[in-house]
Amino acid sequence: MIQRIDFAPLDGITKAVFRQVWHRRFGGADRYFMPFFSPTDQHIVTDRDRKELVPENNGGLPLVPQVMTRKADDFLWAAELLGDMGYTEVNLNLGCPSGTVTAKGKGSGFLAKPEELDRFFDQVFSRAALPVSVKTRLGILDPEEFWPLLEIYNRYPVACLTIHPRVQKQFYKGTVHLDVFEKALAASKNPVCYNGDLRTVEDLRAFQDRFPAAEAVMVGRGAVADPALPRKWRGGPAATRQELQDFTAELYQSYQAFYGQVNPAAQRMKEVWFYLIHLFEGGGRIDKKLRRSRGAWEYERLEAEIFQTLPLRDHSEGDLV
Ligand SMILES: Cc1cc2nc3c(=O)[nH]c(=O)nc-3n(C[C@H](O)[C@H](O)[C@H](O)COP(=O)(O)O)c2cc1C
Repeated sequence: MIQRIDFAPLDGITKAVFRQVWHRRFGGADRYFMPFFSPTDQHIVTDRDRKELVPENNGGLPLVPQVMTRKADDFLWAAELLGDMGYTEVNLNLGCPSGTVTAKGKGSGFLAKPEELDRFFDQVFSRAALPVSVKTRLGILDPEEFWPLLEIYNRYPVACLTIHPRVQKQFYKGTVHLDVFEKALAASKNPVCYNGDLRTVEDLRAFQDRFPAAEAVMVGRGAVADPALPRKWRGGPAATRQELQDFTAELYQSYQAFYGQVNPAAQRMKEVWFYLIHLFEGGGRIDKKLRRSRGAWEYERLEAEIFQTLPLRDHSEGDLV
């Protein structure tokens, strides 16, 4: 049975401003994973990272910060810093598929080097200031690469192993290898959380039916595309048009206050609408215009057009496509 819903980290979207507005307006997630930060060699926190991390900017939400590195010293430094800030868990990113990241052996690129990963864990788990959780893919090219990796994970007290059952070369598309997840759930000695393509209440129900032993799921794009998804899962109502309008208005204003400028705020909003547009019937035309649009004025005009002209999908039973 699903006992916990984690909100996935989505870099560029689920940062401090989004998390707080989403939490206030919809909620239903138990924990929020923060998009990764990469420690610098000099162990200096950049102003931008600090702004995201400090508790003052995070409104008391249950958060798990995420670190992406292949160097144990850097991870340990980050874990200590995060512990001093009051966090109670730190997550290691072993999933990022981006070429610039994997070329440096980080994110899912680290999965190509199981021996190095084992040595990293050996140092990290013997010295980390905080419980360490891991967010992983199955491997680089072939889902079967996961079994030696799971043997490594099983040797350490991973607070939670979140599995996105795709390989690096799939990025965020194509089959999620549920058969591999099924075996991994049975074979993991650590608590497991499932992540990938849970977009509707029906998806959550089907997942729970197939994996009654799974206690935690992580939802990302689905909770941006339909902000009421976790709430609906818990028996609450679907989002109304007014609610969505109030949500996007508050989000846009909060971004403007955060950036002190309107254009970066509009850019952030466009990234949210990339997913949210699917909650509206026939959004394809405006979606294309939004992607091509420049500047705040054009964004504001297109958003108004969405709310004025597009019917909301009947998504109460989770028929989002
Ligand atoms: C735009 C974008 C940014 C992401 N940023 C991160 C990140 O910072 N850290 C991370 O572990 N995963 C990141 N992910 C992966 C998601 O956390 C999640 O694993 C993936 O979207 C699959 O889950 P979903 O189908 O529920 O969205 C990102 C994905 C997307 C699409």
